[in-house]
Amino acid sequence: MEEHFERDLVSALKDVVEQTNWQLLGSVDFLKQKICNRFSTEDGEDVMVVFHKEKNKFYAMDATCPHEGGPLDLGDIEDVDGHPCIVCPWHDFDFRLDNGKSTSGLQQPTYDVQVTDGNVYVYETSTIIGLEVQKEKIDAACSSLDKTEDVLADSLCDWANKILRTADPEEKVRLTHAVEEKWNAGEIERIGLCSPPDQPHRLTDLNVVAPGKIKRGKAGTLASRIQILHSLANIEQWAIDLSWDIIARFSSFVTEHGAALPQDFFSDFIRVAGEEAKHYKMLSTRLQELSSHFGALQVHNGLWQSASETKDSLLARLAVVHMVHEARGLDVHPKTQERFRHQGDEESVRLLEVIYKDEITLFFQIFVNGMYCGKVDWYIPLMKPKDELMKHTRKTQEKTENNTATNT
Ligand code: FES
Ligand SMILES: [Fe+2]
Repeated sequence: MEEHFERDLVSALKDVVEQTNWQLLGSVDFLKQKICNRFSTEDGEDVMVVFHKEKNKFYAMDATCPHEGGPLDLGDIEDVDGHPCIVCPWHDFDFRLDNGKSTSGLQQPTYDVQVTDGNVYVYETSTIIGLEVQKEKIDAACSSLDKTEDVLADSLCDWANKILRTADPEEKVRLTHAVEEKWNAGEIERIGLCSPPDQPHRLTDLNVVAPGKIKRGKAGTLASRIQILHSLANIEQWAIDLSWDIIARFSSFVTEHGAALPQDFFSDFIRVAGEEAKHYKMLSTRLQELSSHFGALQVHNGLWQSASETKDSLLARLAVVHMVHEARGLDVHPKTQERFRHQGDEESVRLLEVIYKDEITLFFQIFVNGMYCGKVDWYIPLMKPKDELMKHTRKTQEKTENNTATNT
């Protein structure tokens, strides 16, 4: 009788423990808003819950990459051999969402997930701290991430590669400013080498459509002004990546006389990346002030098409992307400002003016002075094939003559 009682008691206690180990993370509706949500546990682990749209299913695993500590919650979801995987933004290792296995041979711990009554629960023995409570922990993790970054990425190309593979635009902006600061302080000593991704990473829930499909309107309504600011933020995000891509892709460029690109080439493009990051942040903040946010509307990847077409030629890249598209963008900017002013949206006009002034200054200081006037040293080794450069510029101008101007 006593033995029976003890067995029942142990099994009842087990049930209680089991029940309390199923911890509530949040409602399905809330957690579906982002592909990955990151949580902390009381004993210092980070857990992420991933929502896989196609399978309409939640998964959970440790959020810190077992390779070198990359933030898996900022990675993209990709199909690898028929299995949905999270791909680490730092070195591209994949981890299966269902069992944490990686084709690299590494294994990431996973957790059981249950959906009951519209809520998501994860089975974890250490107490999970709520989203709001963990904000401080995330900030602390970000500053310790800075320290980890010091150890993991030591060349400029490592950094450029890492930023191109960062899908979250806010994180892209943060890293861009951090790298600009390190570079200006002389803390990055090597240019290095890397193979950048064919296309910079983007959040998987971004609604991407073909370039011609987005109608921006003429700023006559609040909705149209939000649409215009949203497209400009999208272009600024691409502009950040274009700067890091030219650094990463052409870091080992040598002229026909065997000269490497001088340090100033890299300094100039880091400066451009920093300015574009500032512009993205101004626009995304303005969108929030207008009760929207970046990612709320459709975007297109049109600007990257020219980058892909010029991925094998530095001269073509400079001519097509940085001369033709920049110039076309600058052409339409004053008209956009005028339309916003006409509607009395002075706050947006103020920020558009800052962006326009910055873009004009950079365009003249770096591209016009360099390419046309020979006043920027790093252009000099490139000057010999100037005819080729002008040929690219003219060809693109002709090709895009009838197209809608692309704004940067
Ligand atoms: S840190 Fe994740 S793959 Fe290297
Ligand atoms: Fe910009």
